[in-house]
Amino acid sequence: MTSNALVQGASRGIGLQFCRTLLARNAVVFATCRNPEQANELKGLQQQYGRNINILQLDVTKEGDIQNAAKYVEQNSEGKLDLLINCAGMLHTSGRGETSLRDVSHQALSTTFSTNAFGPVLMAKYFGAMMKKGSGSFGRQPAEKGKQHSSVLVNMSAKVGSITDNALGGWYSYRMSKAALNMATKNLSIELGRGRNKVICVSLHPGTVDTDLSRPYHKGVPKDKLFSTEYSVDCLMKIIDNLDSQQTGKYFSWDGQEMPF
Ligand SMILES: NC(=O)c1ccc[n+]([C@@H]2O[C@H](COP(=O)([O-])OP(=O)(O)OC[C@H]3O[C@@H](n4cnc5c(N)ncnc54)[C@H](OP(=O)(O)O)[C@@H]3O)[C@@H](O)[C@H]2O)c1
Repeated sequence: MTSNALVQGASRGIGLQFCRTLLARNAVVFATCRNPEQANELKGLQQQYGRNINILQLDVTKEGDIQNAAKYVEQNSEGKLDLLINCAGMLHTSGRGETSLRDVSHQALSTTFSTNAFGPVLMAKYFGAMMKKGSGSFGRQPAEKGKQHSSVLVNMSAKVGSITDNALGGWYSYRMSKAALNMATKNLSIELGRGRNKVICVSLHPGTVDTDLSRPYHKGVPKDKLFSTEYSVDCLMKIIDNLDSQQTGKYFSWDGQEMPF
């Protein structure tokens, strides 16, 4: 049986590594990014995996792009999606989180929210029905006898999006947008959890990962706490592979620990 996975925000970092991992599992991957012409790593994967990877243009802040991508995926996946990972994210328009209120601007808040929180909800709007038709197979172990896997929707969140865990303040745009994203995960778990074919929806924290997003802060991170994308995605795939319906609507860290909202 063909399995179909979509990685939104696939050009770099964690999203790109998810594509590599899923292709190695023989899934058909729809890899979306803002500028396919400039996505050289994705083009390299296309040379290696041929028709198993489809590179689609999608700026997650543009509803029309999401709608167009959904039409393409529907026509090329028999209308079924087994896994959707919303990976695109940004810290702030400047690349650094606000350290105090004087750095806060409407424009940065709005762009960050648009990418990190509004985008994933609109993805669910256009891909939710396809996910309901999916069988949750993306190269993982078959379900136990008499049971069936559900499709999985992952919102890539961050530990700093936890309201309970916030002891330091700052990073208004990023923290608030990820907290809003976590609320979206919970809402989606309720709406897409209705009916016969349920979709499991979770927020995941990938750890501190060696990517462009975290680069301005690498100096302050002990070497063993700065994960490679390979290590982070291996840990996240273990969680995704073992999700069951009891865990929908929850928020997990890379090590499998449930996080407080
Ligand atoms: N790295 C960490 O330590 C860390 C920690 C916690 C959470 N996270 C989360 O993990 C996710 C992936 O981050 P990363 O570390 O892999 O970051 P990254 O290497 O900076 O990659 C960010 C990705 O998001 C895409 N993107 C940004 N704005 C977009 C938009 N409007 N539409 C479509 N794509 C857009 C970028 O595409 P372009 O190539 O077009 O710019 C790029 O593919 C994010 O949600 C981030 O918040 C990361």
